[in-house]
Amino acid sequence: MAIRIIGTGSSLPRQVMTNDDLAEVVDTSDEWISSRTGIKERHLAKEETTATMSAEAARKALMDARIGAEEVDLLIAATITGDYITPSTACEVQALLGAGKAVAFDINAACSGFMFALHTAYAYLQTGIYKTALIVGAETLSKIMDWTDRSTCVLFGDGAGAAVVRACEEGEGSGLLAFEQGSDGSRGKVLACEGRQNGNPLAGRPFVPSYVHMDGQEVYKFAVTTVPASIRRVLEEAGMTEADIKYFVLHQANIRIIQSVAKRLKAEEEKFPVSLDHCGNVSAASVPILLDEMNRKGLLEKGDKIVMSGFGGGLTWASAVVEW
Ligand code: ACO
Repeated sequence: MAIRIIGTGSSLPRQVMTNDDLAEVVDTSDEWISSRTGIKERHLAKEETTATMSAEAARKALMDARIGAEEVDLLIAATITGDYITPSTACEVQALLGAGKAVAFDINAACSGFMFALHTAYAYLQTGIYKTALIVGAETLSKIMDWTDRSTCVLFGDGAGAAVVRACEEGEGSGLLAFEQGSDGSRGKVLACEGRQNGNPLAGRPFVPSYVHMDGQEVYKFAVTTVPASIRRVLEEAGMTEADIKYFVLHQANIRIIQSVAKRLKAEEEKFPVSLDHCGNVSAASVPILLDEMNRKGLLEKGDKIVMSGFGGGLTWASAVVEW
């Protein structure tokens, strides 16, 4: 049994905010943001929501896979910015698509979320429980940003990406070859956003909205050590080396992290495609948006080997080797 990605899709909000636009909101500059992060602009939601962007990305992925919503058995959405606490984003998307047969639920693994969803779908499909999965990574991060905090609000954007994953006969290609993932809750507070405070009559705390806060340098150190190690482990499991890989599709946090990972793996930087320049960091949506852009540009040919890798809040990380 081969578990293959058979379709991709993505959706970005209509409105774009450039670094110069941001300099009108907080004390920053295009020079500071570009040189430290590689980000030039990001899309921010105005009328779009996490669910509507997810549904649009999912529809495109289903169209690319040439299957209907009624064929989806499993629908997993990875997000930390769902529109509701309940229903889940996956259930909202199920309703918007009319994917009535699907079992739908969300995964919260921040910037690794899409990779965690992919691995979860793989497990369901590999064991034969389901045949066709639709996985979505989607975020409206702009609603959990403190728009007076220049150290975080310049980094993130909104958007959604999706992929259809299916259990296929071996002759149709190898698909997902190896996985590696992990979590380190002991370091979770270096990148955090609190939930609601408890306002019950005993606890009695007033409601104070909370926003993303981050120790940027600790996150940087985590990323540049954990990601190369995770990629080496997954390549070893697949019986491959860096040289066998056409593209490394990494979570798009920061160009310096990507360059450092490339250097540590001794892989050419050209093998690391980038979308953060026009999307910013879209957490769980970064990897599937980039994958869809590559797919639509025709960069991926049947038989190509790629590595996909997500890392971020939790802390969490996950890598996979995929034969396209
Ligand atoms: N514009 C202008 N100045 C700024 C801005 C801004 N947007 N943000 C911070 N500064 C200032 C600070 O106030 C500080 O000024 P000071 O020296 O007068 O106090 C100075 O710039 C340096 O601040 P640092 O926070 O030390 O900046 P640093 O060089 O570490 O860069 C960055 C920050 C880009 C976030 C860096 O730490 C980094 O690359 N971290 C990696 C983590 C990351 O990218 N996280 C994204 C989300 S996490 C994820 O997706 C896994």
